[in-house]
Amino acid sequence: MNQLDRMYRILTDSRDLLSGGYPRSHEPLQGRVAHLIQELDGGEHAREASVPVPVQTSSGASQGTAAAAFAEEAQMDEDRRFARLSRDERKERLSALEAAVRSCERCPLSLGRTLAVPGAGVLDPLVMFVGEGPGRDEDTSGLPFVGAAGQYLDKWITAIGLERDRHVYITNIVKCRPPDNRDPRPEESDACAPYLCDQIQLVRPRIIMTLGRISMRMLTGTTKGITRVHGTFFTWHGIPVVPTFHPSAVLRNPQWKRPVWEDLKVVRNWLVDNTGHAASRG
Ligand code: URA
Ligand code: SF4
Repeated sequence: MNQLDRMYRILTDSRDLLSGGYPRSHEPLQGRVAHLIQELDGGEHAREASVPVPVQTSSGASQGTAAAAFAEEAQMDEDRRFARLSRDERKERLSALEAAVRSCERCPLSLGRTLAVPGAGVLDPLVMFVGEGPGRDEDTSGLPFVGAAGQYLDKWITAIGLERDRHVYITNIVKCRPPDNRDPRPEESDACAPYLCDQIQLVRPRIIMTLGRISMRMLTGTTKGITRVHGTFFTWHGIPVVPTFHPSAVLRNPQWKRPVWEDLKVVRNWLVDNTGHAASRG
């Protein structure tokens, strides 16, 4: 992280903490304080403390420092609190989260966006798709996956017998468009990760599909290549996660169409076995 990014992060974190931030805390309070102290100390591990902790896989992140242990414990408290929420309360919290995202200035991507793109879809979806970050069409509409990649993703959704309006929730790792669609930087993904972490637990998908490498890394913690692990199962806070390729990448590399179809069938079969969703098995 360069000096300017660190300064920005320290200032916005301090301001959020002092003002109470997004209602009920954006990230566990102890974790944020620990994180900020580490930032002020210039600790190299500071950013790792804010990454949502994958449960099954051990990425090595968030291990080894007292602050990280503190953040992890606070995260577990958060999980317990989410588990008790009613559907109506989850709906309300999700709206508050979306409003917080729309006015968020936690990372420098806020400076270049037209509209932030919190995500869209139903509560308790069968599948949650997590992409990378908004592109041009998403930045101007405020909605996820509405451009060419989105239209292609729509085909994937219908191919496994689902309807976007009834069965799916779609969001991204970063909620604001990176300039020229570059990859989000680790500090940007980390700044935005607490939103995703809350979002998953409020939305409660049955299964998650990550789209592309960035989303796969964030939610599985794996450092392996996507060509090796796509279509296999990971777990995030007890929820199955199946990585696949990013629709934009598949549009550019048609040789990945077949592997994506195999990955979609993995998810479809899991849904048939675990939810009774009446899509035909393939
Ligand atoms: N690509 C993404 O990763 N997300 C979108 O919302 C659109 C394109
Ligand atoms: Fe906030 Fe995420 Fe947008 Fe950064 S990308 S400003 S953290 S909503």
